[in-house]
Amino acid sequence: MKSITAVVVLTLTLLALGGQGKHLDFKVADKDFLVKQKFVFEMLSHIYQDDVFVTKYDTSFWEYTPKEHVADYHHADKLEHFFELWEHHPFHDDQFWTVMYERHEEYVVGLVRMFMFAKNWETFQHVVFWARQHVNKQLFVYAFTIACQFRDDMEGIVLPAQYEIHPWTFFDGQTLEMAEHYKMHGFHHVKQLNNVYNVVLRSNYTNYFGDINYEHGMSYFLEDVGLNSFYYYFNIDYPFWSEGDETHKLNNDRRGEFYLYVHWQLLARYYLERLSHDLGEVPSFNMYEPVSTGFYSGLRHYNGVPYPSRDNHHNFYHDHNVEHINFVEMYTQRIMDWIHKNKKYDVDVINMLGNMIQGNKDSIDHQFYGSLDKYYRYIVNEGRPFGKYHDEFPGTFMHYDTSMRDPLFYEVYKNLVGHYWHLMETFPEYTKQDYVFEGVKIDAVHMPESLTTYFEYFDADISNAVNVAPPSFDHTTDPLHTFGRNSFYNGSSFVIKARQHRLNHKPFEFVLDVTSDKAQTAIVKVFIGPKFDEYGNVIPLEHNFQNFFELEHYKVQLEAGVNHIKRGSSEFSFWVNDRTTYFELYQKLMDATNSDFKFKLDQSEAHCGVPNRMMLPMGKKGGQVYQFFYMVYPFHQPTTAEHTGYDPVISCGVGHGSRFVDALPFGFPFNRPVMHDYYFDVENFKFFDVKIFHRDEHTNNA
Ligand SMILES: *[C@@H]1O[C@H](CO)[C@@H](O)[C@H](O)[C@H]1NC(C)=O
Ligand SMILES: *[C@@H]1O[C@H](CO)[C@@H](O)[C@H](O)[C@H]1NC(C)=O
Repeated sequence: MKSITAVVVLTLTLLALGGQGKHLDFKVADKDFLVKQKFVFEMLSHIYQDDVFVTKYDTSFWEYTPKEHVADYHHADKLEHFFELWEHHPFHDDQFWTVMYERHEEYVVGLVRMFMFAKNWETFQHVVFWARQHVNKQLFVYAFTIACQFRDDMEGIVLPAQYEIHPWTFFDGQTLEMAEHYKMHGFHHVKQLNNVYNVVLRSNYTNYFGDINYEHGMSYFLEDVGLNSFYYYFNIDYPFWSEGDETHKLNNDRRGEFYLYVHWQLLARYYLERLSHDLGEVPSFNMYEPVSTGFYSGLRHYNGVPYPSRDNHHNFYHDHNVEHINFVEMYTQRIMDWIHKNKKYDVDVINMLGNMIQGNKDSIDHQFYGSLDKYYRYIVNEGRPFGKYHDEFPGTFMHYDTSMRDPLFYEVYKNLVGHYWHLMETFPEYTKQDYVFEGVKIDAVHMPESLTTYFEYFDADISNAVNVAPPSFDHTTDPLHTFGRNSFYNGSSFVIKARQHRLNHKPFEFVLDVTSDKAQTAIVKVFIGPKFDEYGNVIPLEHNFQNFFELEHYKVQLEAGVNHIKRGSSEFSFWVNDRTTYFELYQKLMDATNSDFKFKLDQSEAHCGVPNRMMLPMGKKGGQVYQFFYMVYPFHQPTTAEHTGYDPVISCGVGHGSRFVDALPFGFPFNRPVMHDYYFDVENFKFFDVKIFHRDEHTNNA
């Protein structure tokens, strides 16, 4: 499947937003690329409607069935099973799909194979069109998104944000209903902006009318569309059911270790946020006792079926869950046996554990270790039987784009990540020798002693949440519509935006004064961690190492003598800007197609990045003390040099074993239990206290 990625390289750097942004290389899409881009946008709008494409697709599309074109696919023998399965049991929108059930997994494996094996763009386009018409839509979007990440000829393709493709899993029923009302009422009284009906809805978090428990007060965090999308994409990049293909070997990216690390860091970040609300540690999920945190998602499916809620003090230990609970006990026992026999202290062992817990394709023994990740999800889901196949109804815990809304997510992962800490307890403790960087010293840290967070309005384009009529060209000259966008009503385009307040922070900057006895390459890491617990007591490092959250990790060139290492928060590596709305993307695509406007491709909104706005915890009005941790450390060359095998300007490079800066274990130096805090007294480590103030007004002038 070698095809040329159709982009023109521009060797310029882009300086975003008043000099505060990252220096990012970018490319400009050429005509071939724009054609593909347009197709992707069309396939992903108003997904539950099949007959609203503006572009006229000829009968070769409408009548296409992959089975009749097997010669157009590589490894056609590997598709036979799916063809047969589909013939007997097709999976349409009358069923609820989730990747977590084995019966459902079969479909995604078959579908992704078809997408990946299509020999050329023509075939790919046809099979995608076929799936868009026939396949269950959540399944389709999931499989198509994966194919767009991994097909060589789709490198750089921009997918609209998942929360705009599928607003049903991000915005509550009230918001979706109100969007529908505006549309049904013919946008009566709605002002047109440049001939486009422009609706802005205030979308509320589920605790708007009151908190059902303390965690509910954090629904701005739990329901953040950017953070939930991040988690969704992380699981798109590393699907548990796949080991990747010949050119993308997921295990090359230390997928198991990364799995543990991402969840560890999510827990650390959540704890920082909890401290801003005087909430303490996340409890571990206890399967046998009532769980104090109930949950109410507010979400509903396209067909109106609501996602189930849960009362406070719900008990999961009942008949329906006994089997799942027994499995969790048994797999836990086996994994603990494995951990306590460990005698190897390298990242391979950590990676093995991660693969085992997730129960992914690279697990050393899936039959023996199962998938704790999935079994916990089954327990929380405790689904009511649903549909003709006696499946259980998949609630919010069964989808990657909704599971993090439930505070129980963190309690469950506290258990799973707990196994990681059990493994790390078998490793020898790091001592000064492991931490020190001979000849290198951080003389001083310069950064503001107070940082500011605030809420600001954020608009997501949820036009896809309302049904539209088949296209008509009778009385319109509307350029967006004639170009292909189908959010259209009586002669005019429309856009419906859900406006939510979301956390953000003022940019900040640090400078490290570092002396080095020689010129050399080094890495700099920055973490933020708690200082005090919810009662105001200092947390000793021996009990705090798990709570440090990584903000930055990058390579620097030290000169012999004094260095001033300066970096702004908006340059931090794995953080990304807010996504451009679907509406704007369409306009840009149209302009690029019809004029010499340049459709830029870069990584400023990369799907694999963490939303910039989630960097700092909210803090408090009167300030809340946290601590930064700075480290300068020798550079450890990874086996495969960074960015090998892919184009970092337009791709996250999943599966090439070259995504990460260095070969250190993720989370170093906090990745092993700290039992002697004075080992941290080395000259290349520095802690720095900061107070985070929350400014209580909504503002969009950062
Ligand atoms: C959110 O709450 C406000 C205040 O009650 C209300 O005006 C608005 O309509 C609500 N938004 C939605 C989408 O229901
Ligand atoms: C459609 O637009 C025309 C004029 O642009 C207007 O007269 C008519 O009432 C509109 N119809 C509806 C259903 O909104």
